[in-house]
Amino acid sequence: MNKTNLERLILLSRIDSHPILGELDINKEVTLMIDGEVCKAYEGDMIASAMYANGKRVFRYTKKFHKPRGLFCAIGKCTDCIMTVNGVPNIRTCITPVEDGMIIETQEGLGQWERSEGL
Ligand code: FES
Repeated sequence: MNKTNLERLILLSRIDSHPILGELDINKEVTLMIDGEVCKAYEGDMIASAMYANGKRVFRYTKKFHKPRGLFCAIGKCTDCIMTVNGVPNIRTCITPVEDGMIIETQEGLGQWERSEGL
């Protein structure tokens, strides 16, 4: 498989071998939509890892002061990495694996649930 320089750079910014999570399978590519931009990730990536690999560092903005937040603890404890995923706010992206076709959005404040018709 021929890779472009950008794809090689993206691979270098990933953790491809982890003592707990195991190996990242770079042969199984998935496509994500991050804030309206089509991005690539690999099966086994956490959303946060895919964000970093695609050059994205801001995951949400705080409610009161609109300050940017990103990856902090990376183990699911601090909530700094929460984003809206497939219309559901407050998803901790450091512990949530990617799925093909996911729609990931930077979260503003507490986030907003998509409303169903008739409510
Ligand atoms: S970075 Fe702390 S919960 Fe994800």
